[in-house]
Amino acid sequence: KRVAILVSGGGSNMVRLVESMTGDHPARAVMVGSNDPQAGGLAKAADMGIETFAVDHRPFRGDRPAFEAALRERIDAARPDILCLAGFMRILTAGFIQAYEGRMLNIHPSLLPKYKGLHTHERALEAGDAWHGCTVHEVTAELDDGPILGQARVPVEPGDTPDTLAARVLTMEHRLYPAVLRRFADGDRSRLDL
Ligand code: GRF
Repeated sequence: KRVAILVSGGGSNMVRLVESMTGDHPARAVMVGSNDPQAGGLAKAADMGIETFAVDHRPFRGDRPAFEAALRERIDAARPDILCLAGFMRILTAGFIQAYEGRMLNIHPSLLPKYKGLHTHERALEAGDAWHGCTVHEVTAELDDGPILGQARVPVEPGDTPDTLAARVLTMEHRLYPAVLRRFADGDRSRLDL
């Protein structure tokens, strides 16, 4: 299976995904792309020998379909079987998602369906939750809403700040996403809870 990964920032999840696809793993990373030519994840991917591309979203200024057409052209050139969003921070239209329906994954830093959208750690702290975590789900047109493929929980500790909580969640993201991708690439869509 050929896997393409989209990042917008440092790409720490992408690194773990790429590193996991070795040996008897049924998938290999074939492309890493970003909407930001300066994304740190692009340099990390290149250092790992993975082909990269960037389609800067800013020149498209609100013309989302045009941006997505350019993005799809680069993604489809890599002929991916699976598309992983990993810290990808652009909203994608239903049209784009339809093209990858059933083979597109995302990781979100909350225990969905709680805290869809942004600032999830602040919101969990604000709510006084005892538990927080991350979710890997299939991407559908509804934001942060597709079938859940896996979740990992972390305790909220006394004195936690959004940053300390985010760091604890990120550590679990790095475990959850590779584990879910391996199952997904094997055709297993059962839910994994860590
Ligand atoms: C992190 O906040 C993570 O929770 C979310 O995307 C952000 C950046 O992740 N998934 P990465 O280091 O770029 O993978």
